[in-house]
Amino acid sequence: MARRRMIYEGKAKILYEGPEPGTLVQYFKDDTSAGDGAKKDVIEGKGVLNNRLSEYFMNGLNSIGVPTHFIRRLNMREQLVRSCEIIPLEVVVRNVAAGSISKRLGIDEGTPLPRPIIEFYYKDDALHDPMVSEEHITAFGWASQQDLDDIVALALRVNDFMSGTMLAVGIKLVDFKIEIGRIYDGDYMRLLVADEISPDSCRLWDIATGQKLDKDVFRRDLGSLSDAYSEVARRLGVLPPANAGKTGPKLVH
Ligand code: TMP
Repeated sequence: MARRRMIYEGKAKILYEGPEPGTLVQYFKDDTSAGDGAKKDVIEGKGVLNNRLSEYFMNGLNSIGVPTHFIRRLNMREQLVRSCEIIPLEVVVRNVAAGSISKRLGIDEGTPLPRPIIEFYYKDDALHDPMVSEEHITAFGWASQQDLDDIVALALRVNDFMSGTMLAVGIKLVDFKIEIGRIYDGDYMRLLVADEISPDSCRLWDIATGQKLDKDVFRRDLGSLSDAYSEVARRLGVLPPANAGKTGPKLVH
């Protein structure tokens, strides 16, 4: 394949220049990290699963009119996306207490929240992504009040779609994180859901057993991450064929 220009390399993905102006190719790596990169591993096939799962969720969102950067999947590990300007915020929506809210506020994990709670974190690895308020966001110009109103509306629509989609396959959507991008059509600016939606950025609990089917399996050493993600993919009917993403010699008949 011809060499492509790399635009950005993150912990789990790489962005390359796309085939047409305004597009990028998003490549899903097998690398996994947690705790600000303190814990790292390579989980074979994770990138293939997340590429498929993110395609599934983003396609679903596009189909109900929630704008996303996703255009189409290109191959096992890559998807074509719209190039956008990422707002430097992690937007977290919580339905059930778990993780940092449980720690910070002393709420038992698994406690249902009275309503979906939205939190914002400033994307800055060196600062360990600190939680910020709407006051910080508008005062420092990361987003306007109008943007924030639109982001909250988008986040709640994603929550409704994702909760329903997961409930249909016996999984509870505990919480998730999304990132929002801006695109410009002339003078007109629009917000859309960018980055990825996958078990890397959600908490997913099996409703019948409470089993964790997300990145907490890796963060907390609870077993095989690829088994957990494969289970989510299998239930949603998006599991790629066996041996997907594996390299190595192939038998020639
Ligand atoms: P938290 O409980 O650690 O704050 O995480 C809330 C949700 O957001 C959880 O599903 C994991 C996701 N998340 C990310 O995907 N990336 C991050 O950097 C953080 C802090 C959370």
